[in-house]
Amino acid sequence: MGLVGSVILLIVLWLVVLMPTLLERGIPIDVINDYSSVEKGPGRPPHWEMVFWWTRKPLAGARAIIAASLLPDNAYQSMEQFLNDLFPCRGEKRTVHSCNPSQRLIEKLRGKRLLDPFAGFGSIPLEASRLGVDAVAVELLPTAYVFLKAILEYPRLFRDKFIEVDGKTIKELGLEDVAKQFSGKREVSESGRYKVPMLIYDVARWGSWIINRLREDPVIKELYDADIYIGTWEVKCPVCGRYTPLVGNWWLARVKSGNRGYERLAWMEWQNGEIKVIDLNEQCKQQRLGNCDNLSAEVTTRGEEGGSVRWANQKFVVPIKNVDAKRETAQCLYCRAEINHRIVNGKVVKGNKKDGDWYVKWALRRWSENYEKYLRDEITLDELRQSPARPTLLVKVYVKDGDLQFKPATQQDTEKLWKAAEELRKMWGDPDIPIEELWNYHMGTAGQISIWIWGYNKFFKFFNPRQLLTLVKLVKLIRQVGHMVEEEKLKEGWNSEDARKYAEAVTTYLTIALIRFVIFNSVASPIRPDTIMGAIIAGSMTFRGLAVVWNYGDMSPYTNITGSWLKNIKTTINSLGYVFLTIFDSNGNAKVLLDDASELSRLEGERFDVIVTDPPYADDVAYSELSDFYYVWLKRALSDAENNELKPRFLPEAFFDEFGLEIPTQWQRFAPKEVSENEGRWEHFGLKVTFAELLTRAFANVLRFLKEDGLLVAYYVAKKPETWAALVDALWRENGLELVAAYPVETESEESIVAKGKASILGGYVSAWRRRVGERPLDLDVAREEAFREVASRLEARLKVLRGRKGGATTWVYSYLAALEYLTAHYPVRLGGVELGSDGLMRQAVVLAFEALLRSSGIKLTDRGAHAYLALRIMESKSGRVDSDTLSYVEKAVGLEHKDLIGLGLITEVETGGPNVAKRKTFEVLAPRSDTVDEVKRVYSLQRGKSAVIDCLRQLQLNALIKSVAKCTPEVREESLNLARALIELSKSGLLDEDDADVKLSRLVLGMEWWQ
Ligand SMILES: C[S@@+](CC[C@H](N)C(=O)[O-])C[C@H]1O[C@@H](n2cnc3c(N)ncnc32)[C@H](O)[C@@H]1O
Ligand SMILES: [Zn+2]
Repeated sequence: MGLVGSVILLIVLWLVVLMPTLLERGIPIDVINDYSSVEKGPGRPPHWEMVFWWTRKPLAGARAIIAASLLPDNAYQSMEQFLNDLFPCRGEKRTVHSCNPSQRLIEKLRGKRLLDPFAGFGSIPLEASRLGVDAVAVELLPTAYVFLKAILEYPRLFRDKFIEVDGKTIKELGLEDVAKQFSGKREVSESGRYKVPMLIYDVARWGSWIINRLREDPVIKELYDADIYIGTWEVKCPVCGRYTPLVGNWWLARVKSGNRGYERLAWMEWQNGEIKVIDLNEQCKQQRLGNCDNLSAEVTTRGEEGGSVRWANQKFVVPIKNVDAKRETAQCLYCRAEINHRIVNGKVVKGNKKDGDWYVKWALRRWSENYEKYLRDEITLDELRQSPARPTLLVKVYVKDGDLQFKPATQQDTEKLWKAAEELRKMWGDPDIPIEELWNYHMGTAGQISIWIWGYNKFFKFFNPRQLLTLVKLVKLIRQVGHMVEEEKLKEGWNSEDARKYAEAVTTYLTIALIRFVIFNSVASPIRPDTIMGAIIAGSMTFRGLAVVWNYGDMSPYTNITGSWLKNIKTTINSLGYVFLTIFDSNGNAKVLLDDASELSRLEGERFDVIVTDPPYADDVAYSELSDFYYVWLKRALSDAENNELKPRFLPEAFFDEFGLEIPTQWQRFAPKEVSENEGRWEHFGLKVTFAELLTRAFANVLRFLKEDGLLVAYYVAKKPETWAALVDALWRENGLELVAAYPVETESEESIVAKGKASILGGYVSAWRRRVGERPLDLDVAREEAFREVASRLEARLKVLRGRKGGATTWVYSYLAALEYLTAHYPVRLGGVELGSDGLMRQAVVLAFEALLRSSGIKLTDRGAHAYLALRIMESKSGRVDSDTLSYVEKAVGLEHKDLIGLGLITEVETGGPNVAKRKTFEVLAPRSDTVDEVKRVYSLQRGKSAVIDCLRQLQLNALIKSVAKCTPEVREESLNLARALIELSKSGLLDEDDADVKLSRLVLGMEWWQ
């Protein structure tokens, strides 16, 4: 290339580099967050119901962010137009994700390519392809890979295949909604004919075929005579020797009706050595007491643990649970002895916690060993039944006209479990029984996924014998369907590749329905009495992990309630209907890759316009381990079984390694590669790689595929400045990027208890990064003034986007991000002659942000306590509190520890309610919350003599209210008046509420009228 060529290239590059995107100019994030938050509740995208996945991102937000990261900043005259094109049905529908983006927008994005290297359940690639953008979705885990195929690939592959079906069949298969959706007709009549996607039709048809085969199965049909069984464990009482059930909850139904009363009230009692059912609706009907669908009863509960009921002039007591795993105690229902015994040297003794394992835990582990020994034919059924713990059934449930009837389970019912065990023993060695081992190390975040310490050391042990037998049969039927579908298509004249792919697709959807059945039909699927009647069983992932459950649901495969096979087929059909809708108006392609974001060898030579991605956050979710609960079933239903071995069939790359060997579990192979941080894993695998290191490595790798001028956009959860450090380290320090835009976003994660309302803002972010141009050193000792000015001007630009909807925390976050933008545009950054690492950079960002904020309000304060007070007031939640995460920002901003803040009388620790696990330190910010004498006195009594400036401010306030004498030195008094002015300035710039009591009092002190 000649000189002229080079110059032109440089100019082009320069132009390109300087062409900012809409995301950098600013998008109306508050509106978009409102749309996103709908997706956390009943407005969830329908296809999310197929199966649970962790931390899925709302579609509305993903769509807006993808589009804005690809459009030039001048693509739209107004933000209204942008929003209208993104969500054409906004204004008509609450769930804006249910409509496709406009053609005009799709046209603007034609030919663009997006990479998501941490695709999960695929919100980002789904919305990208919906916008007409070609998306590549990468996932490390086979489980997510299969789900991504189901959501992104198969519908596209078979989008043109329709089949005409008569109305009668449509109705029989529950395809009415789909038929209406695709024919545009309002009703389905038996005599009509309807075109529906072949794929959806076949899922419905084969789903129904499977259940009909299972109905004929001579063994299975004998095992069920109710819809649901409520099962639990019973243990042999170490005192009286009888087997006592461990009941985690005696309530069966406690369902409120719309108008104050109760739609359903029922519970269990223990009478004469038996379970009895007390059903108030039944009693009401028998005694003809009027409206029995709305019992006017008074119910008090102690959590889920019992309570009392007053109804029809009677008083009832609902028993308290007789097992408490946290406190490690239980009570025998026969002899009432407390079972808090321990196992010491193999003997059952009364002892202290540290002496040995709790008897019940030990008993469950013995069951686990014996269960396996029995199936291996090493002990007899009698011996198995003599285990110190064993499964039992409490109640049978019948579903009738949308209502539930309860009956105590009998000895004959429990016998069915043993019958199933006998069947399983005959089949032992069958590769469809998931004998893979669980991880056996502790996982950082949540103790509940250390469930293996209860004896759940192999996956089949998550199922009682009946559940297990039924699931194994279902696997075999699904596999059989795979072969039948393929044969059918070959007979119809399809080529062998298409026929096979089609069979793969149908089998995959049926397998996903099976996974959902697994989630709702294990010994870890809790009964929840207080929700709607059709959903009495909750999924085993309800607590995000797997927990030991006392009352669990054991569901007949023939029933039709939430989580059942029939309902799951229906859910899959509806999900597919939605997914088909997303590919109607655009032809963005979507490709799914099973790979490690740090490798990606198959993408060699490809380039993307943008990377939009959502990596894991440190130790938030143990993806590999938890989704193994799905993996072991997916692998079976999608593979063949020959000679007591699984053999590759569909998606072999997900289940077999490069040598054709079966991959037993994800945790064994992928956990070390998962971008996360976990001590348990470090120990087990004998290698220690931090989250920041893994993230850095992955980003370094994916950047190879990003065009020179492309944005890297990352979702991230960062509550503390420290958490940002990992991302900043990975992108700024290690990979030469600068932050060019950032937004607080609604994500799926739970809100902080403390900061409700305000601080979902302090949780999830989307940040956009570009390659930094050249070396840009910065010496903060020299450039401090310039830094303040820069941050303040960026902040001003940002605040315009908020359009008057600014709340304290949002403004704070924006100032912080403005500071980070300024700082990350430089490298290296020095302070006091030392080069700053990412941690140091974060700290400087907090300091700069806070200073810039104060300066932009024209505030000058020298007192540190006053400084800290302002910082606290800016960052406090609506209820005037700060949690420890927020506090760490304050600490960094003003250079005081939280102990100092307590010492200065600025905060005081408070107890928060809520479950024990979620308890975190919370502090009340000490400030008057109403402008009354009593309130100021209350606060003053807590602050008196601690910080001279605050002390004096309170005195001045009291003086203004009741003319009491204020005794402060002139200097302190001046600083207190400055603080009062500062408070007023902050309210003017929206950082404090206008009617904040302290602001009002400050006006009073300064002798100001409200309009000044
Ligand atoms: C936060 S989730 C993504 C959720 C997704 N955005 C959604 O809406 O469903 C992060 C994903 O990254 C995956 N992951 C973890 N380590 C990975 C790696 N090294 N390579 C590729 N994917 C990885 C996890 O399995 C997980 O599904
Ligand atoms: Zn007893």
